[in-house]
Amino acid sequence: MPSYRAPRGTRDLLPETRAGLSRLETIARSLADRNGYREMEIPLFEQTSVFERGIGATTDVVEKELFRLAPRTEESESWALRPEATAGIVRAYVQHGMHTWPQPVKLTVVGPMFRYDRPQAGRYRQFWQWDAEAIGDAGPAVDAEVIEMGWRFYAEAGVGSVQVLLNSIGDTACRPAYLGRLRAYFRGHEAELPELERRRLDTNPLRLLDSKDHAMAALVAAAPRIADSLCEACEAHFASVRAHLDAVGVPYRIEPSLVRGLDYYARTAFEYYRGGAEGQQQALGGGGRYDGLVELLGGRPTPAIGFALGLDRVLLALEEAGAEVSHESPPLAVVAGADPADTVSRLRVASLLRAEGLSVRAELAVRKLGRQLETASKEHAHFAVIIGDELANGHVQLKDLEAGTQRLVPLVDLARELARAAKSHHHG
Ligand code: HAM
Repeated sequence: MPSYRAPRGTRDLLPETRAGLSRLETIARSLADRNGYREMEIPLFEQTSVFERGIGATTDVVEKELFRLAPRTEESESWALRPEATAGIVRAYVQHGMHTWPQPVKLTVVGPMFRYDRPQAGRYRQFWQWDAEAIGDAGPAVDAEVIEMGWRFYAEAGVGSVQVLLNSIGDTACRPAYLGRLRAYFRGHEAELPELERRRLDTNPLRLLDSKDHAMAALVAAAPRIADSLCEACEAHFASVRAHLDAVGVPYRIEPSLVRGLDYYARTAFEYYRGGAEGQQQALGGGGRYDGLVELLGGRPTPAIGFALGLDRVLLALEEAGAEVSHESPPLAVVAGADPADTVSRLRVASLLRAEGLSVRAELAVRKLGRQLETASKEHAHFAVIIGDELANGHVQLKDLEAGTQRLVPLVDLARELARAAKSHHHG
């Protein structure tokens, strides 16, 4: 007997968890809407080079974690599952000539991402992100606006005390000199570097700062900091981002070691953590400015900023805090019948009510009325519609399962009566 399981690193979202995710998606869409972001979809896979060029070939996300799809038939393109949404959104911005739209173009995507990571709690191979991107505005005000939107998301989702960690990682003017200093520093410790880090020393020294290798922790802590090498323009930008954050009352902490794990960032970089134990924990979300990415993917030079929030980690945080993760609503009514065999009438009445937009379950099992009503109570239905001999005269019994009261209602009025009751239940 085969025993099948969901692939390692993935998980089934059973109805309760799915309802929790839906709740987060609803909050995300509402915030996106309130902030003027328009939802779009991009494919779950792209040409591999979109990620290699966009995110960077020597990042963990591309070098170690990219889900590459085996080439099929004579189609020559190589594809990979999307590990994040930013590169795909920017590819779409360029492809559809969105530079001719009013700028900034504010776009949002909610959906699954894929990274071939070593699975552990809060780290999955398929996970969900809420991603938001503002393309075509150099900031710094929009930087603060983006950071505030993410921060508000956690508050509305009910995750307490989320910390914003903030840094500036410089731009093409000041970063090269910093990278030179960084390279020189790590060269001085080359013997202590793990194999991968030694390789990246030449190609991408910034990546050593977000190494997941524990052997790197002490070296990274003592490394030169980008914050001490910012050019005047980057300093001014950073100061203004902070002033805007202060103005909207978003608390943040400057974290000089924050560099993010993707290559496209410039200037503003930020991450969200649950308060208390930053550092040991995984980020709830992160983002930053990526002023070079549009050009890198074939567009004209265009400044941009965005974030992605990991929704699985928000669900976990809510579960750990014992907060309500979801709110599935019970059916308004269950249609039961005195004649167990008469499933035709029960299905017909349920169908009538559903056509009126009501949430109704038909009791289709052939069993005694008492048993039918028991299950209706167990699932916390507000009403039972009971079909008996009165149906011949166009009437049914409407039983309020909470109050225990019951009355005869003409079938033609039933939907209206139930709709009115549903309203008073919601408001009462
Ligand atoms: P990221 O930091 O790679 O940024 O991912 C953002 C968030 O996605 C993380 O903070 C985490 O909550 C969640 N996440 C990442 N990997 C996993 C995983 N394996 N399992 C569960 N959750 C995970 C980005 O993706 C950038 N695209 C953000 C961005 C948008 N920057 C500019 N615009």
